[in-house]
Amino acid sequence: MIVCFLLTSFIFTVFGHNEINSTSNDESNTTDHIVLQIPLIQIPAQETVYVCQQFEINDTRPYHVTKFEPILNNTNLVHHMLVFGCDFKIDEKGPHQCNNMDYKCRTWLVKWDIGMPDILTMPKHTGVRIGKESFKYLLLQVHMNNKGAKDNIVDSSGMKLHITDNLREHDIGNVQIGQNNIDINGGRSDVLITGKCNSRCTSLMLPRPIYITDIYLHMHKLGKSASLDIIRDREVRETFATETNYNYTRPMWHTLDPPQVVYPGQEIMMKCWYDSASTGRARNVTTNFGQGTEAEMCYAFIRYYPRVLGFDQCLQSGEDNLSGC
Ligand SMILES: *[C@@H]1O[C@H](CO)[C@@H](O)[C@H](O)[C@H]1NC(C)=O
Ligand SMILES: *[C@@H]1O[C@H](CO)[C@@H](O)[C@H](O)[C@H]1NC(C)=O
Ligand SMILES: *[C@@H]1O[C@H](CO)[C@@H](O)[C@H](O)[C@H]1NC(C)=O
Ligand SMILES: *[C@@H]1O[C@H](CO)[C@@H](O)[C@H](O)[C@H]1NC(C)=O
Ligand SMILES: *[C@@H]1O[C@H](CO)[C@@H](O)[C@H](O)[C@H]1NC(C)=O
Ligand SMILES: *[C@@H]1O[C@H](CO)[C@@H](O)[C@H](O)[C@H]1NC(C)=O
Ligand SMILES: *[C@@H]1O[C@H](CO)[C@@H](O)[C@H](O)[C@H]1NC(C)=O
Repeated sequence: MIVCFLLTSFIFTVFGHNEINSTSNDESNTTDHIVLQIPLIQIPAQETVYVCQQFEINDTRPYHVTKFEPILNNTNLVHHMLVFGCDFKIDEKGPHQCNNMDYKCRTWLVKWDIGMPDILTMPKHTGVRIGKESFKYLLLQVHMNNKGAKDNIVDSSGMKLHITDNLREHDIGNVQIGQNNIDINGGRSDVLITGKCNSRCTSLMLPRPIYITDIYLHMHKLGKSASLDIIRDREVRETFATETNYNYTRPMWHTLDPPQVVYPGQEIMMKCWYDSASTGRARNVTTNFGQGTEAEMCYAFIRYYPRVLGFDQCLQSGEDNLSGC
């Protein structure tokens, strides 16, 4: 196997020890937690930093994660955190700049963004499955926004997973829909970008209907409104989530109660409207897709059940579906 660590160009200074607390070890109906947390490290002097660390959990038994609780050490620094399930072990043990190996863990389990509530609770009767017959390795990804690229910033953030071995009825799945090809000229007040999981993709990827429980619409600073629509057939369009006064500093999960069904063959469409002209958003330069907060994104993060293995991403790049289907 050829392993390329293309981006590991520096060494993190580690001040502490990492610790995983998996204390659930009796046979009864237990509720417990697992802590995925990077040790205290010095952040490199660059504006956009993605730190990844993989954790191995005890997979003797299956668990459902019922709540995800961010652990914020340096509150102004963390822009988002993602937890992924991996079916392989990553060689690099400690925290490191996310690299191509990390990006091979594609099954994301939760996304938390700055401004979201302190605890992300899974819908009742559902949980995110980990452990036996599911993931033994969990990857924490922390996007840090080191404003001004300072060289004296430290952090030790992470995520606490509240787990139960009293399994709930449904396994949660997560899918990301959207567009990776973004090009917004400066001085425009109304630019529409769309990214869809088309009918062909849902036919191929979904063996059965899914039920959407929560949706998070994600853009950066130029985003002004967004919606997630389902196109049932060519005629019928339903809006599942919409934000008309988008501000990326107020990220929110839209809860669908009752959950809404999507059948194989139906289309899931993310629509993003941008403004690069009005006060507070005005720019003279073209803005493209990118990881940094000054670049743009157009994504919907969708929580659904029952989980469909492999239905993690259905993204477009221009006209083409990026992840294939
Ligand atoms: C792990 O558990 C031990 C014993 O319950 C506790 O002292 C410690 O603070 C926990 N660590 C974390 C990171 O939760
Ligand atoms: C894993 O958990 C089981 C009980 O669920 C326990 O018996 C076993 O010792 C644990 N293994 C490790 C390596 O902690
Ligand atoms: C486990 O907890 C659930 C509710 O939290 C309860 O309905 C169930 O009876 C409990 N099972 C056992 C074996 O204690
Ligand atoms: C951040 O973590 C370090 C090391 O664990 C600790 O000393 C410090 O108090 C933490 N700061 C905050 C704000 O939690
Ligand atoms: C978004 O919200 C922040 C904080 O409330 C505010 O400072 C900013 O002006 C808002 N942006 C726009 C474009 O309204
Ligand atoms: C854009 O360019 C014009 C003319 O060069 C200038 O007056 C204006 O301040 C610039 N706006 C921004 C947001 O940089
Ligand atoms: C989507 O992906 C398939 C291959 O998996 C390809 O045949 C198709 O042309 C792609 N593009 C669109 C717009 O569906």
